[in-house]
Amino acid sequence: MRNDQNDDLALFMAGAEQRLEAALRPAPGDGAASDLLAEAARHLTFAGGKRARCKLAWLFGRALGAPGEAIADVAAAAEMIHAASLLHDDVIDNGSTRRGKPTVNAQWGNLVAVLAGDWLLTRAFHQIEHLPPQVTHDAVRLVAAMTRASMLEVMARGRVQLSESEWRTIAQGKTGALFGWCGQALARSMGEEPKGESFVRCGLRLGAAFQMADDLIDLLGDAGKDRFSDILNRNPSWPVLAAARGSDVIRRSLDVLWASAEPNETRAAETGEQILASGAAAETRRALKQEIAAAIAELDGQGLSDLQQQLSVWADAMIAQLPRDNHAAWTSGIR
Ligand code: FPP
Ligand code: MG
Repeated sequence: MRNDQNDDLALFMAGAEQRLEAALRPAPGDGAASDLLAEAARHLTFAGGKRARCKLAWLFGRALGAPGEAIADVAAAAEMIHAASLLHDDVIDNGSTRRGKPTVNAQWGNLVAVLAGDWLLTRAFHQIEHLPPQVTHDAVRLVAAMTRASMLEVMARGRVQLSESEWRTIAQGKTGALFGWCGQALARSMGEEPKGESFVRCGLRLGAAFQMADDLIDLLGDAGKDRFSDILNRNPSWPVLAAARGSDVIRRSLDVLWASAEPNETRAAETGEQILASGAAAETRRALKQEIAAAIAELDGQGLSDLQQQLSVWADAMIAQLPRDNHAAWTSGIR
């Protein structure tokens, strides 16, 4: 990215942050309930997330020549929808740490976390209400898709044999749908529907790649998140499934571990190490690079080569930030 583009992005991100700040203030006179909901929502929203959806909205919006105000509203709404989903997700996963801080459910309990998620969602819809109505209609469908995917993931718990296509449906619904919506919303605002459709396809695949990276972080460990939580929660993540497909020993370990509704923490960590020793991290990196290339190719033929180039830089930066892995490269047969 050129220096002037970096400056523009920094300015835009500061503006989006201000919008979030304003959107998540409790309205004066709304009372104590609003104060608590806002406090809990802000606890997560301002805990230092990567703001990936804001950056994506900026990239899509700039490629369309969309006004900065519309891009900032879509970006802020996307971050709030994301934060709402994480508040609910941490209840579902019983997460205790996120972004280096105690989760809202850990600090205030599940009840406050669920209601703060609902409140955040209303703030997100409020943020886009002046954009064309179709943007809100798409957002309603988006939240339905995210909810279905999250339910499917719960139903997939403990399923060592989950297929890659089932995994993809879940990952695209959980993460890709919101990525795609960032572009779709701006394309709708600009009357650029065909581009919007290609942004949706691109976003779905970028989301799958992003979810692979997230699955990898769960295995390798990263400051601010619980390690091996996917294994502990019997959640068949991409590297776990790949390792199980390649090794009877790992498949049996997971079968035994996941036969219990509450797997033993030490055994979960041992299985995680076993999965890493099989080279699953290198295999996940390979697959996620391939997924990113396929995502960017979804924009072919639309005169969007600058955007494609910028998405490639954005994705490379995401890969560069992944935790290091000292295990052997994937070698088929020796897992
Ligand atoms: C994190 O997944 C969760 C998501 C990306 C989406 C979760 C969606 C819902 C709970 C549906 C409800 C949606 C809304 C908008 C209220 P993860 O558990 O794989 O990631 P993690 O390791 O960061 O927890
Ligand atoms: Mg989770």
